[in-house]
Amino acid sequence: MNRIAVFTSGGDAPGMNAAIRAVVRACLYYGKTPFGIEQGYDGLINGQVIELNSRSVSNIIHRGGTILRSARSAEFRTKEGRKKAYESLKKNGIEGIVACGGDGTFTGANIFMQEYPDISIVGIPGTIDNDLNGTDFTIGYDTATNTAVDAIDKIRDTASSHNRLFFIEVMGRDSGQIALRSSIAAGVEAMLIPEMPLTTNELVAELERGSKNKKSSSLVVVAEGSEPGRSYRIAKEVTDKFNYYDTKVTILGHTQRGGSPTVNDRVLASRLGVAAVESLLSGEKGIMIGIINNKINFTPFEKAIKNANNLDEEMVRIAKILSL
Ligand code: F6P
Repeated sequence: MNRIAVFTSGGDAPGMNAAIRAVVRACLYYGKTPFGIEQGYDGLINGQVIELNSRSVSNIIHRGGTILRSARSAEFRTKEGRKKAYESLKKNGIEGIVACGGDGTFTGANIFMQEYPDISIVGIPGTIDNDLNGTDFTIGYDTATNTAVDAIDKIRDTASSHNRLFFIEVMGRDSGQIALRSSIAAGVEAMLIPEMPLTTNELVAELERGSKNKKSSSLVVVAEGSEPGRSYRIAKEVTDKFNYYDTKVTILGHTQRGGSPTVNDRVLASRLGVAAVESLLSGEKGIMIGIINNKINFTPFEKAIKNANNLDEEMVRIAKILSL
């Protein structure tokens, strides 16, 4: 295998640039020619394939976003779209691909490899959601949770000055991972996550406990789940039953997707990028490369994406104990 391409796909995540850099430099280290595919699967279909060199990835390790840009491709879900993508790879003589993304990216890669087995694809987990099996952390999750915690800390200052109840909505499509970690780190009073739904009455009971403990304010972190903006509805339901605090809503939204990656995300992306190239060169394909207990780990795509929303029970327990 001499020509290896890298692309980023799905929602962007801080650290994707560090991953691109690592793939390109690892290719060059092993005497292989690196290519970049712009705009994910859409760019592959449209022939946006460019040769990269060591300098193409200079000064990007600290930058959020992705220099290759990203997309969620509707066309790649069609047989015709995938055929065009294959032709584009053949035209450029590319035999190996490193796909950086999340569940949609790996689902697409799996289908593509069944149709075109002569192309080898390995994946690296790039999503702020941390919702994949086979890795302790996905690229971008650490930065996103740090961004969320920074914002929650600021909201706490103003909440406690005004006797207020804040609902702070964080990202995570069907996933409470960002909510759980940032809840513990910011020391919030309650969290609402799709994996463990609370009724309005249960939430009100938790908040009443806080008011009995003479708390001057309360913060509730809400994972967007499958209903971005749901905090407004929940805040209204709670206010109708419990008017001890003045209620406000803040949605952190896409601020969590941007910004300079943390050290953890840069190092994670660098390790995964190198491991991805090495795994392709040793004949692997159809796997996501992750890190579990500080060791590189391979997980077949279909396992990486299946029922991946398992929250760490120990973290849930800690969050409960500390929210008194
Ligand atoms: O998958 C990452 C993510 O940021 C989710 O947390 C969120 O639900 C979704 O992407 C938002 O997607 P978009 O940027 O397309 O609105």
